[in-house]
Amino acid sequence: MARSTEWPHDVGILAVELIFPHLYVDQSDLEVYDGVSQGKYTVGLGQSKMGFCTDRDDINSLCLTVVTRLMERNSIAHASVGRLEVGTETIVDKSKSVKSVLMQIFEEHGNFSIEGIDTTNACYGGTAALFNAVSWIESSAWDGRLAIVVAADIALYAKGNARPTGGAGAVAMLVGPDAPLVIERGLRSTYMRHVYDFYKPNLESEYPVVDGKLSIQCYLSALDNCYQMYCDKAGKVMQEKNQFQWDVNCFDSILFHSPYCKLVQKSLARLVLIDFVRAQRFGHNESFIGLEKFANVKLEDTYFDKDIEKEFLVFSKECFKNKTEPSLFLANQIGNMYTPSLYGGLVSLLLKKPGNLLAGTRIGLFSYGSGLASSFFSIKVSDDSSVGSKLDVLVRSVLNVQEQLDLRLKVSPEDFSKILEDREKNHHVAPYTPSAQVDNFFPGSWYLKYVDDKYRRYYDRVPLS
Ligand code: ACO
Repeated sequence: MARSTEWPHDVGILAVELIFPHLYVDQSDLEVYDGVSQGKYTVGLGQSKMGFCTDRDDINSLCLTVVTRLMERNSIAHASVGRLEVGTETIVDKSKSVKSVLMQIFEEHGNFSIEGIDTTNACYGGTAALFNAVSWIESSAWDGRLAIVVAADIALYAKGNARPTGGAGAVAMLVGPDAPLVIERGLRSTYMRHVYDFYKPNLESEYPVVDGKLSIQCYLSALDNCYQMYCDKAGKVMQEKNQFQWDVNCFDSILFHSPYCKLVQKSLARLVLIDFVRAQRFGHNESFIGLEKFANVKLEDTYFDKDIEKEFLVFSKECFKNKTEPSLFLANQIGNMYTPSLYGGLVSLLLKKPGNLLAGTRIGLFSYGSGLASSFFSIKVSDDSSVGSKLDVLVRSVLNVQEQLDLRLKVSPEDFSKILEDREKNHHVAPYTPSAQVDNFFPGSWYLKYVDDKYRRYYDRVPLS
């Protein structure tokens, strides 16, 4: 691509690819196996299925697969890529980046000149990588080439109440100018602080140390802060309306990092609660009929207030159905993929809403990573959804996801537990040759062949057909 003398316009997502494991465990089977009450995982957490990996998959194999597929399915020339960033918290090496492993895809095409390395902070790494890629394209360092952002993780919890909130997957996004999904400039809010809600201090283990209740409180407080900051900024930047009028109605879709779907439904209800609190402040509460009794509520007192939660869940039901539910499709079917989770929400939206209904809309996105790092930002969708337009091509490119979901294999909770025990035992063992079958892997998937006695990892690829 020739370097233009102008700054690039409409920088955003040109193409997207999502992958997930070929195995899943059913959450209702897991309820029985774990001896919890029926409905706890399926209704209480809102999860149907959970994808998981055998010992044939690690973070490198997932990323190799998703980048290769993005390149092949979108006919991207290897020479056209000038930046590649990986966001992940699935660390197999404290020094060597996943990005450097991905270079082998480009080396055979003679492209060794690709900026970017890995970014880590729990489920936020992918968003930081996306912001980096956009900044590079909008900077003086940009040389006219495209960027690829990869968000990937294997989300595993030790046996216990957090285990049903695992998952795994990877998303790769091609980022460049004149995109059908434009990351809105100047419309971004960020909230970061030091907390121990979820962290991985034991480098020998794939499991985090997690304080479930604290992590929910941190997630919701980060949402409160990011959303209010975004609304203040949007009100000023847009100058179309006064600050107090910037609310959920200004978004056609609102997507969230999804630890489990029920928390996302509560989060959308929380945005409506925040709108209500802001409306009180500005004396414009006429659209919140029946909620007057909560007029003096303080947001920080409400994280686990069941009355408020219930009332606002009911009040925001239609809003949730229209603006958020379509984006939860993959979170419900795969589980928490950690850093790809929010972008799995974007793919779900593209899958569930026809292009002509998406065209010209604004999508709000909330990214959260424990520890904590969080941002609220927005995407403006191109208003051209005609056949052959960039938006049309993008929407059609994700239709294969449903087909892949249907091809997955269901595994019993007993076998699922055994596979996780094997991962636990063999994590960081060298030399090591994985024992899981590769026959049922999706065509074109990369997998771990072996780890040699110097901890070097070798991969192979399942044929494309
Ligand atoms: N039928 C329907 N609902 C039920 C049933 C049932 N039989 N049994 C329980 N429930 C409901 C509960 O009432 C509860 O609903 P509520 O949250 O609306 O009150 C829900 O199911 C979950 O039950 P809890 O008893 O609260 O669940 P538990 O405490 O065992 O575990 C938790 C939930 C804390 C989320 C745990 O899975 C966890 O630690 N997960 C990892 C941390 C996490 O995801 N944090 C979120 C942000 S950080 C991140 O993204 C990693």
